[in-house]
Amino acid sequence: MSEELFSQRTTTCGSLTKADDGARVILNGWVHRNRNHGSVHFINLRDRYGITQVVVDDDADEELEAAANSLKLEFCIAVTGVVRKRPAEMVNPEMKTGEIEVKAEKIEILSTCPALPFQIDDGLKTKEDLRLKYRYLDLRSQGMQKRLKLRHDFILSIRNYLSARDFLEIETPTMIKSTPEGARDFLVPSRHYPGKFYALPQSPQLYKQILMVGGMDKYFQIARCYRDEDARGDRQLEFTQLDLEMSFVKRDDVLSLMEGLFGHVFKEVMDYDLPATFRRLTYADAMNTYGSDKPDLRFGVEIKDVADLAAKSSFSTFKEIIGKGGFVKAVCAPHSETVDFSRKYITSLEDAAKVYGAHGLAWMKVGENKSLSGGVSKFFEGMEDEVIERMGAAEGDMILLVAHQDWKRCCTSLSAVRNKLGKDLNLIRKGFEFCWIIDFPLFEYNEEGGFWEAAHHMFSMPQQEYLDTLESDPGRVLGDLYDLVLNGYEVASGSIRIHDVELQKRIFRICNFDDETAEQRFGFLLNAFRYSPPPHGGIAPGIDRMVMIMAEETSIHEVIAFPKNTAAVSPMDDSPSEVDQKQLDELHLIVKYPEKP
Ligand code: AMO
Repeated sequence: MSEELFSQRTTTCGSLTKADDGARVILNGWVHRNRNHGSVHFINLRDRYGITQVVVDDDADEELEAAANSLKLEFCIAVTGVVRKRPAEMVNPEMKTGEIEVKAEKIEILSTCPALPFQIDDGLKTKEDLRLKYRYLDLRSQGMQKRLKLRHDFILSIRNYLSARDFLEIETPTMIKSTPEGARDFLVPSRHYPGKFYALPQSPQLYKQILMVGGMDKYFQIARCYRDEDARGDRQLEFTQLDLEMSFVKRDDVLSLMEGLFGHVFKEVMDYDLPATFRRLTYADAMNTYGSDKPDLRFGVEIKDVADLAAKSSFSTFKEIIGKGGFVKAVCAPHSETVDFSRKYITSLEDAAKVYGAHGLAWMKVGENKSLSGGVSKFFEGMEDEVIERMGAAEGDMILLVAHQDWKRCCTSLSAVRNKLGKDLNLIRKGFEFCWIIDFPLFEYNEEGGFWEAAHHMFSMPQQEYLDTLESDPGRVLGDLYDLVLNGYEVASGSIRIHDVELQKRIFRICNFDDETAEQRFGFLLNAFRYSPPPHGGIAPGIDRMVMIMAEETSIHEVIAFPKNTAAVSPMDDSPSEVDQKQLDELHLIVKYPEKP
């Protein structure tokens, strides 16, 4: 028999307690800390399960002493030793294994490393690109290990819940026909067919609908999606969805399935209780009350319509805008002990509003005895009671107003003010607040192109009452669409789908796809719909975004093992990278480099 390669662990670094006192064990792991007190060494040995303190006592033989002396941070080692209780004053209640230590008898160095580019566990203070370049080191940090475990638990819990309810997990192809879904496609050139391309799916949308035509009834998939768009904190070029579709359902069936699913998953994974049903807001109400179709409901500061009051005021700017059919809305910033409502602070709020199109941010402060002062207060003289009552304001509060010709801009710029107040004034409660946004407009007008396009995607069902006016008044059509929002992020979108060829073609036409182009692009879907499709609907929660929120992070990079950075590059493997001329030739491709500016 050949000699053993290394002493293989008998237990992990997270499991020993005082009940193991006296046991001989072998641990394998990485040197997390290494302190040398004269002739006694304290080594914190780490693996995925925890940290165990290893002690090399002053009675160590020469070989053991030499091994201990040669250890550097992150060396991978095997320790053979005996578990002993720590003296009372050395017990560390913060550590799972804080009651014991292992007296080392033998240390084997399994592999070594050069000086580290950054301290493990110091991850968040390290520049992100350095973390991504050495992702294998970053992944050793407890934070990354905890978050990837959370992601695993989340996905497993979803799979179990859905499987127990007759859902089948079915894979759909990742090389498909290019069928625009909103973003830009990533293309894969075909070697066999010069000039032809596969596309990577932006989502399995059409395939899941065709699975319904195929009688699969209840489908889900933990699906990878690819979109060639700019990467942001909550966006990646490739990301993961829980993609789901059901036959013979109406909107509320999908919504209650999701409420049950996330209620179960949050309890199982995080022991967090969600309400049995989530609040529902129509798109119009969400915009009017929170200025956003993804409102953060963990704090109040609701938007109020003050157009009638502004019309009665003596402020000509407001009156003019109202006169032309515009909007005036306001929020009330509650008095704060920590933030002074100074001119400088008001300017910072105004800057936030301007990003979303506000021309300015008017303000006035609420003083004692229901008085208003500063800013535009002089124009509201005699109307103090009305203004204060409308805003639900109290002494020390500040009222912030936006007037705009355009309803959406008026709402969204106040939403930016609201969100900034939420953060700055520390108004955001801890926890998880879900809500549904329903009754979205089906179409959006593309100002640049001068045509209508689908607000979600082109396969969503218009609400029945608009079927006769789709073409004549697309802007007013509401869809059977829904978004799930969590803590101010859109975490899922879905809809009841069209399953009628003629209706589908009408939508294509409104979205600027004539019948010929529609057949060319989506003929396979239309063909499937000619063969008795069932009514169906579905939804797709973004896994990365949800886990990011559950982990209380603000970047999805923190919950993805190997993300691209915000420049869409992977610093570890340097992708995207150039390829050999031979590969280009095989694919019949010539690269046309952009001209230098
Ligand atoms: P949608 O495009 O709204 O819908 O996407 C659904 C959810 O996927 C997540 N998501 C993303 N996450 C990370 N990076 C991205 N670039 C990214 N883009 C989207 C979000 C979003 O809510 N086929 C439809 C769903 C359906 O109708 O069933 C779709 O993909 O959490």
